[in-house]
Amino acid sequence: MTQNSASVPATAESAVAAAPVKLRLANVAKTFENAGQNVEALKPINLEIREGEYVVLFGPSGCGKSTLLNLVAGFEEPTSGEITLEGRRVTRPGHDRLMMFQEHALFPWLKVIDNVVYGLGWRPGYRFRPRLRRQKARELLKLMHLEEFARSPIHELSGGMKQRAALARALAPDPKVLLIDEPFPALDALVRARLYGELQDILVRTRKTIVSVTHDPREAACLGDRVIVFTGRPGSIKTEIKVDLPRPRDINDPQVAGYAGKIAALLEEGQRETIPGEKV
Ligand SMILES: Nc1ncnc2c1ncn2[C@@H]1O[C@H](COP(=O)(O)OP(=O)(O)OP(=O)(O)O)[C@@H](O)[C@H]1O
Ligand SMILES: [Mg+2]
Repeated sequence: MTQNSASVPATAESAVAAAPVKLRLANVAKTFENAGQNVEALKPINLEIREGEYVVLFGPSGCGKSTLLNLVAGFEEPTSGEITLEGRRVTRPGHDRLMMFQEHALFPWLKVIDNVVYGLGWRPGYRFRPRLRRQKARELLKLMHLEEFARSPIHELSGGMKQRAALARALAPDPKVLLIDEPFPALDALVRARLYGELQDILVRTRKTIVSVTHDPREAACLGDRVIVFTGRPGSIKTEIKVDLPRPRDINDPQVAGYAGKIAALLEEGQRETIPGEKV
C-alpha cells in the first residue's frame, strides 16, 4: 500500500509528492446518535495524506472538522468506512497519533521540562531511561526556544509560550501524525504571526505529518501544503487547494493573503473556482 520513496527529489514540495501515504481515509462517515436523535456530522470522506505533509481542514462551524480529527485520533469510531495509518486500521487512541489540545495539553502542577519528560515516557527506548529523557526534553525545549524556561511553572508562561511548551510535549513521543484542533485561537496577532513562523520552522526540521483545523483562511494558507475545504453540515469535501508557496511563509505576505482570499471565497460563495495549484 505504501509507495517506494527511495529516490527523494531535491525540493521539499516534490519530496512530499513522492512520499508514501501515511494516513488514508476511505469513505469515512459519522452520524452521532443521542437520545434517539441522529446527527449526521460527516458524509463519506476520502482523503490520503502523505508523510511530511501539512494538511489543513477548513470549513464552517459544525461541518465536522473536530469530528474528523477525533476519528483519526481514535476517540470516536466511524459509522462507516475505514481509517488506516501506514496500512493498519485505526481502532483506538494510540501514541502514534497525538492530538494537541490547547492549554489542556500541559499539567499545571509540573514544571515545563517535566511536562516534556512525561511525554517522553511514551517514546520507545526512553521509558526507563530518566537521564536520556531529560536530555531529550532539553533538546525539544531548545527547538521551541524555551530552554530558559525549562524549570518554570506553567502559570508563569505567556499564552504563546504555553503553546510552544504544549508542542514540545506533543512532539516528545515522536508521533507519526500530529493532530491540532484550532492551534492558535486566543493569541494576539503578533504572537500568532511569530508562532506560525516557528511552527513552520519546526515542520521543516522534523518533517512531521500534521493535520490541523482552523476557521481562519489566512492560517490555512500560511500553514497548509493542502487546504481541504468542507461544505456545511453534514460535512463533505467541497474542494482542495494546494498552496504552492515556499516556506517559511509570513502570515502577512501578499501571496498568502491571495490564497486566503480564494479559500474564504470558496467558503462564502459555496461555488467552485479554479485557481493556480488547485487539484481537480
Ligand atoms: N458527541 C457528539 N454527540 C452528538 N453530536 C455531536 C457530537 N460531537 C459533535 N456533534 C455534532 O456534529 C457536528 C459536527 O461537530 P464538530 O464539532 O465536528 O464541528 P466543527 O466543524 O469542529 O465545528 P467548529 O468549527 O464550531 O469547532 C455538529 O452538529 C455537532 O453538534
Ligand atoms: Mg471544532
